[in-house]
Amino acid sequence: MIGRAPPVAVRGKGMITLKINGVVHRLEVESDMPLLWALRDELKLTGTKYGCGIAACGACTVHLDGQAVPSCQVRVADAQGKEVTTIEGLGSAGKPHPVQAAFIAEDVPQCGYCQSGQIMAAAALLKRTPRPTDADIDAITNICRCGTYERIRRAIHRAAGSGKA
Ligand code: FES
Ligand code: FES
Repeated sequence: MIGRAPPVAVRGKGMITLKINGVVHRLEVESDMPLLWALRDELKLTGTKYGCGIAACGACTVHLDGQAVPSCQVRVADAQGKEVTTIEGLGSAGKPHPVQAAFIAEDVPQCGYCQSGQIMAAAALLKRTPRPTDADIDAITNICRCGTYERIRRAIHRAAGSGKA
């Protein structure tokens, strides 16, 4: 008798609950969908960018319970029960986060593609290290292909000096 093939684990869609920028969303998606996909494709929160997909560039940085993480590497199932903050939830045009205000004041962006990730990384840094050194800032590994690192550094010091970040 020919043996039966072992059962194959079938991945399917399920209901995932995410709290993003203070709003609860219920999505019917695969549990291993990257959070970045859910943000951009399902919820149209396109401020968070896709760069590399392999945790190398930081364009997709969001906060998960206040920590900066690459959303391309976080499964939606693992983001459940946590507070997700994206660039859309950090501040607004009328009420920018101190880091956003400092990036504007220092005229940091060039093409702008990396900037939401840079700002999210900087905001998380200032939460845990309110007066960072140059070395603390340089430990941010987000890539800027336009090379705005000097201005990013100045902006982070400016935000730290404002005492509001
Ligand atoms: S897209 Fe996530 S780190 Fe590059
Ligand atoms: S501003 Fe262009 S990649 Fe950073």
